[in-house]
Amino acid sequence: MDLRGKRVVITGASSGIGLALAKRLIKAGARVVGVGRSADALRQKFGGRIHTIVCDVSDPAQIDTMIAEAESVLGGIDIFISNAGFAYYGPIGAPDWQKDSYIFATNVTAPIYILQKLTYQRFAPLVFMVTISGLGKMLLPGFSIYCSTKFALDGFIRGYRLEKPRNVKVIPVYPVATFTEFFHRAGGSDTPMPFPWHPVSYVAWCMEMGLRLGLPSVYPSPIYIIRCILVRVLPVDLLVQALELLRFNAWRRRHDQ
Ligand SMILES: NC(=O)c1ccc[n+]([C@@H]2O[C@H](COP(=O)([O-])OP(=O)(O)OC[C@H]3O[C@@H](n4cnc5c(N)ncnc54)[C@H](OP(=O)(O)O)[C@@H]3O)[C@@H](O)[C@H]2O)c1
Repeated sequence: MDLRGKRVVITGASSGIGLALAKRLIKAGARVVGVGRSADALRQKFGGRIHTIVCDVSDPAQIDTMIAEAESVLGGIDIFISNAGFAYYGPIGAPDWQKDSYIFATNVTAPIYILQKLTYQRFAPLVFMVTISGLGKMLLPGFSIYCSTKFALDGFIRGYRLEKPRNVKVIPVYPVATFTEFFHRAGGSDTPMPFPWHPVSYVAWCMEMGLRLGLPSVYPSPIYIIRCILVRVLPVDLLVQALELLRFNAWRRRHDQ
């Protein structure tokens, strides 16, 4: 796909993967609208070079307004990149309905709702790229709530593929540990980052290639691809999980003090 002139909306554009991808797509000639929660952060990152919209995607009313504004500014949407998301790192802790609902609303309900909004009784071609995670298919200690959101999102996308209309293309993305604000925000500056690690520029490049080539899905990490094949016949996750459990327990001891 030639990205020149394509009308693109990216959520989570104020930081990390979304920001790096937005910059790449702008360079490629796409007309990009960046979405984030903070007007200051968006202004600081894009300096008024593109149209930006403030929207907390956990709120459907804000999504409605954001999509209406993006469509009116761009005159339609060719590519929507549903990338906003976050994690909690730590033990499950005290029951907290609001906290649990907030992460599910952001990581799961929002992309589903956005896809519904963009496709219900609409027949224009749409590419819907969605940032899932390697942890949408693999479990690690400390990330159980986050994993459950990304497993749910992965389940939705795989189910939707079976029934989707022909005018919609979905491209799920499965990054593994990427150098962004993600881990810091999840559990503080000492949150262990599971191996393998990738620079954010590389992940954004893989996503751009996914769009250009119309790939069915994007797996930036070759090691993770091998893991996905091996796990069908060998319990390869056990070793990683044992190592991450040691790191999680060390993190927990530090935070219990
Ligand atoms: N980094 C990794 O290792 C990794 C690995 C696999 C998957 N992912 C996924 O990649 C995506 C991007 O993460 P990142 O690594 O780029 O992390 P990041 O640097 O923390 O960026 C997250 C972005 O999502 C936005 N966001 C979070 N909650 C939001 C909400 N309720 N409404 C609107 N925007 C919201 C943030 O906006 P604010 O600036 O307003 O907070 C920020 O722009 C996420 O879906 C994450 O789950 C990340």
